[in-house]
Amino acid sequence: MIKIVLVEDDFAQRNIMANIVRAEGHVVFEAANVDTAMSMMNDNDPAVVVTDLKMPGRSGLDLVEEVSRMPLRPEVVVITAFGSIETAVRAMRLGAYDYLTKPLERDELLLVIERAAEKYRLRIDGLSFRNQLANQSSHGLIAESQAMKNVLEIVRKVASSDATVLIRGESGTGKEKIAQLVHYLSPRGSRPIQSINCAAFPETLLESELYGYERGAFTGAQARKIGIIETSGQSTLFLDEVADMSLNTQAKLLRTLQEKEVRRVGGTCSIPVDLRVVAATNKNLEEAIRRGTFRDDLFYRLNVIPIVIPPLRERTTDIPALVDFFLARRGKAKLIAPEAMAKLTHYPWPGNVRELEAVMERTIILSATDTIEPSDLPPEIQRPEPAETGSAQEPSLPEGGIVFEEWERSMLQKALDKANGNVSVAARLLGMTYRTFQYRAQKFGMIEKNSSTGPE
Ligand SMILES: Nc1ncnc2c1ncn2[C@@H]1O[C@H](COP(=O)(O)OP(=O)(O)OP(=O)(O)O)[C@@H](O)[C@H]1O
Ligand SMILES: [Mg+2]
Repeated sequence: MIKIVLVEDDFAQRNIMANIVRAEGHVVFEAANVDTAMSMMNDNDPAVVVTDLKMPGRSGLDLVEEVSRMPLRPEVVVITAFGSIETAVRAMRLGAYDYLTKPLERDELLLVIERAAEKYRLRIDGLSFRNQLANQSSHGLIAESQAMKNVLEIVRKVASSDATVLIRGESGTGKEKIAQLVHYLSPRGSRPIQSINCAAFPETLLESELYGYERGAFTGAQARKIGIIETSGQSTLFLDEVADMSLNTQAKLLRTLQEKEVRRVGGTCSIPVDLRVVAATNKNLEEAIRRGTFRDDLFYRLNVIPIVIPPLRERTTDIPALVDFFLARRGKAKLIAPEAMAKLTHYPWPGNVRELEAVMERTIILSATDTIEPSDLPPEIQRPEPAETGSAQEPSLPEGGIVFEEWERSMLQKALDKANGNVSVAARLLGMTYRTFQYRAQKFGMIEKNSSTGPE
């Protein structure tokens, strides 16, 4: 079925054409002049317009011209009187698809309409495909869940400003990915983003990396070095793992953010910088502030726009989309069995998207057939989820036994996760005192040794 607008001032002629076309099961809207035809087009989104050229009022050429400016224009076929080919050629130059000469042949009319409709369809498909790409201009960032859609919404809103963004979330949730998106969608996006992982350098080295130094500033400073804050001018500075910064460097950074100036180590003058800062951390900054390892004034400076990325287990609707994305990215025509997808959706993903990505990479390589089955997945994901029970269900001891330490560790971790890292709450979940829980969790390095400030 093709939707067609037929424009012809001669009623008899129009009627004959309309009947021919309708007999083929197409839908025809009839117009006696160009103005009516234009409003019919707006209302009905036809694929094809067949128009006479000579009409009272505006001519068929006017129509061709106007249609050519429409964003989702139909294809236009013009009808010319015998012997006025020049006008037909002009119409084609203005964008008409083809022309027919009077007297019209039934088969010719139908064939031209069908070809025009085909051209229209291809063009529209191409357009919607490009639109899809444009919508995915989230740079390969999957956001199916409402939680991630909300995150993207904030990103879109803040990208255009220079406001400082603080991205928080567990390891592997996509903090860096979001930081990059904030940058790419911003007016600074055409310049390369400047990233530094604050946890990767010891204190003095981090300072040199951030601020640079003048020649001779210290032993070994043989040439001037420009720091990353300076090179971030007009671009975005991404401070990753920002909690892992010494108090000294934090103080220095705070001053830089307030004054928008940097001074190289050993330098005598301050250099103004046009900065936009995006920071990220998976640490509990409030806790760090309480312990005195993070400055609260720096926190408030950074936390102008807070973005919290929930862990993957709290947005399971993202999992199938991420799986498809990682499969498609491999460029191989691998399918995934629904049972396998169910296993992936139920697994709690302590390593979040990074872990899912790694599992998919491994599974794609190792699975022998076209379809990924549950048996292709790593054992910890194949295992059925233990039923959630309110009260303590008797834990089962499998035939092969267990390693108690591993089990203990996993229970402690589960409690910590459920308690969002709050040790008092986690201890209560396991029926332990704060001290006992702390002792055990420290044994596994799950909480830091110096967090011994007692229950809050
Ligand atoms: N929504 C998403 N869509 C597609 N890929 C994602 C998404 N989120 C994360 N990833 C991918 O998962 C991996 C981990 O993401 P990223 O490095 O941004 O996490 P992170 O939070 O910075 O982790 P960490 O805390 O360990 O530094 C990357 O390969 C990233 O491309
Ligand atoms: Mg990261």
